[in-house]
This record gives sequence, C-alpha cells and structure tokens, in this order.
Amino acid sequence: MDTSYLKQFYKKTRNEKIQALQQAGVISAADAQMLKEGLSLPDEAAENMIENQLAKYELPYGVAPGFLIDGKEYVVPMAMEEPSVIAAASAAAKVIGAAGGFHTTISKRRMIGQIALKDLPDLAAAEKMVLANKAAILQLANRAHPSIVKRGGGAKALEVRLLPADATIDSPDFLVVQLQIETLEAMGANIVNTMMEGIRDELEELTGGTVLMGILSNYAIECLATATCRIPAHLLKRGQFSGADVRDRLIEAFQFAYVDPYRAVTHNKGIMNGIDAVVLASGNDWRAIEAGAHAYAAKDGQYRSLATWSKADNGDLLGELTLPLPVGTVGGSIGIHPAAQFTKRLLNYVSAQELEAVIVSVGLAQNFSALKALVTEGIQKGHMGLHARSLAINVGAQGKEIDQVTQQLKKAKNMNTATAEQLLAAIRQSAQH
Ligand code: MEV
Repeated sequence: MDTSYLKQFYKKTRNEKIQALQQAGVISAADAQMLKEGLSLPDEAAENMIENQLAKYELPYGVAPGFLIDGKEYVVPMAMEEPSVIAAASAAAKVIGAAGGFHTTISKRRMIGQIALKDLPDLAAAEKMVLANKAAILQLANRAHPSIVKRGGGAKALEVRLLPADATIDSPDFLVVQLQIETLEAMGANIVNTMMEGIRDELEELTGGTVLMGILSNYAIECLATATCRIPAHLLKRGQFSGADVRDRLIEAFQFAYVDPYRAVTHNKGIMNGIDAVVLASGNDWRAIEAGAHAYAAKDGQYRSLATWSKADNGDLLGELTLPLPVGTVGGSIGIHPAAQFTKRLLNYVSAQELEAVIVSVGLAQNFSALKALVTEGIQKGHMGLHARSLAINVGAQGKEIDQVTQQLKKAKNMNTATAEQLLAAIRQSAQH
C-alpha cells in the first residue's frame, strides 16, 4: 500500500477518493468501478434474504484510512449513518499510528452452545452422568455436523452448569450442558445449533430430564479479542491542554465510566459506533456482537467501561479494549452481499482472527477520540460541524448549495433547521441576481 496517495483523504471528492485508493494499491480497477456503481445488493438477493422484502434500506459506506494494526496498514470500511464516526476513527488512527499503532491478541475461536434441561429426577446424578459421558456427547455433536470436523473444527469441550430454582420467579432447577465448538472461519450459529439439536435426545436419556431448548450463546467469552495502544503524552496536546493534562483527564474519563453505569453505557456506545460499523460492512451479525459486548461489560456484576486507560511508568498513555468478537469471514450474508465481498478484498484479511484484530482496534480508536474530545473542547464542536452537512441536505440543498449552506451554518449562531432553510433561501435568491 502506498499511503502517500491517501494524504488529506477527507478533502478529496468521492471520485478522487476512489482513484486514490486504486493508485495506493488498496483496490483493483474492477473494485473502483464497483464502488462507483454503489455496491448495492441485487434485487433478487434482497428478495431471497428475508421474508416479505419490499425495498432496500441503504446506509453510507465509507473508509477510515491510516490504521496501523500489528504492523500492517489498513483502510478500514465502515457502514454508518452517524456523521462523526469515520472522522473520529481516522483522527485516532493518525495519532495512534504515529505512536506505533495498535497491537492485538486474539484468542482461540470457540463458540458456545447450550442445552437447558429441566424436570430432573436427581440433579447431582444427572450432572455426574453427563460428565461421565463427555466424550460420547462430544462425538455425537460432531456427528451432527461432520463437514466442520473434516476441516479441523468441531465440538472440543463440555461443561455442566447447575442453575438452582429461583423462588422469586418460581423457576425450576436447570441443568445446562455447554459445549465449546470450533467453527473455524464461520461465526457458526447454524453449526452450533445443529450440534445442539443433535445431542438433545441423548441428554434426555442420560439424565431422565426434559430438554427445554438448545441454542448458541452470544456470550462468546471463548472468542475474545484485545487491542492495546501506547501513546506518548506529547502526542495528546489539544488547544490549551498540555499532553499530560489530556492523558490524565482521559484516564479520569475511563475511571468515571468504570464506576458509573450511566456513563459506561454511553462510553461503550461510542466504542460500538466503530465496532458495529465495521461488523456491518463485513456482512456479520452486529446484534450478536452488541449483545455479547454489553454482557461482557457487566461480567463482574456491574456494567462497566469495556476499554481501560492508564498511565505507564514513563508517562505514556496506555489503552486496552477486550470484548467477544465472534465474527466470520464466510456464511450468512457475507457471500451474498456485494459490499461484504468488497470489504473482504479491501481489508485483504487472511482469517476471521485478522478481521477481529481490525474490529477491536477500531473500537479502541473510537473510544480514544470520543474521550479526548469530551475531556477537552467537548464533542459538540466536531459533531455539529459534521451535522451541518446533514442539515443542509435535510432542508433540500443540492450540488454546490450543500457546501455553501454547510460553511455558512458552521459560522451561524444557531445551527438548526430554521437557520439552514434561511441560508438556503438566501443562497438561491442571490444566485438569481
Ligand atoms: C456518540 O455517538 C458517542 C459518544 O457519546 C461516546 C462517548 O460519550 O464516549 C461521543
């Protein structure tokens, strides 16, 4: 990748951006053409994807260039409606890239499947029975999906959890049999669910209980991704705030989100702004990632910040983000949606683990930018600047008018729809004279 073509990327027109990506060697000529045409989902694919399909709901698909992750440069694709997200990711990538980039640790990828049993004549005996037949149950699960086993994956571990009756909701005792399953490059919901259904009869027979259900758990704590970064304080200076001030305030912002769930939700929402946008661009199930992330944020019983920020002995700022990231590079709509296929070529990743590394780094970047803005000038300045463009389009500005209204709105005392309407009317009137 020749990144010299990507300098001042945000200032280029859409066509110039596409050309720059091609010149930088990030995309092929054929992909440049596909981008110009819009990467849209063919009607037939849309029709077959969901029940009662009527139309296609589109989102902008953009890129945040300049991500240095584990020594490799990425131009990161993001599908997102919120104006400031890509700008924030790009700004963070620049600072963190100058400090050596992101470093990631990606765990082995194991998905979790659950079977809940109830009406057990003897809980302790049932647990013993399941554990004594562990190997046979795993084998049965693997027989339900032989192709994943052939490729080196499959059910690898089994555990039993006893959930005693809860009188406050009048629930029965549950015995939960949990399998850890390697689904390789797939997110694997179908593989896991097929395996769970493959073992239910055997579990009923072994335990004398009744199966209530068998399903994948989105609390994918056997599929964790971690990104870290280390930023010298002098790179953090902002306006009247020294680098050391910004570092200390940013650490306090994390501490606030660690102790206060009200703040933690918004803090994590900012992280998910980046994560969801890449997950969506990659064709993966962003609801699964959202659900798992927020559950992980509450893993010690209180909902807390997913990312942590601290000070190194030499005064550098240290950032770290860990969350479950059970994404796939095959399966679901990934093979069907042209934008998801394009994302694969753009990121040029070799595995689902590499895709996880990109996604978790974007999450940390997003958090860095949000906190840095919040503890210095506040986010409204940047947000409203970008919001001005949406307002201009909302009131009907077209072509050159969009830039004209945007520029004038940024200087206006009240940035709102009424002002945008007045500015557009004035621009149109002066154009007539
Ligand atoms: C807005 O979409 C996200 C932020 O609220 C995140 C945060 O507060 O950390 C800016």
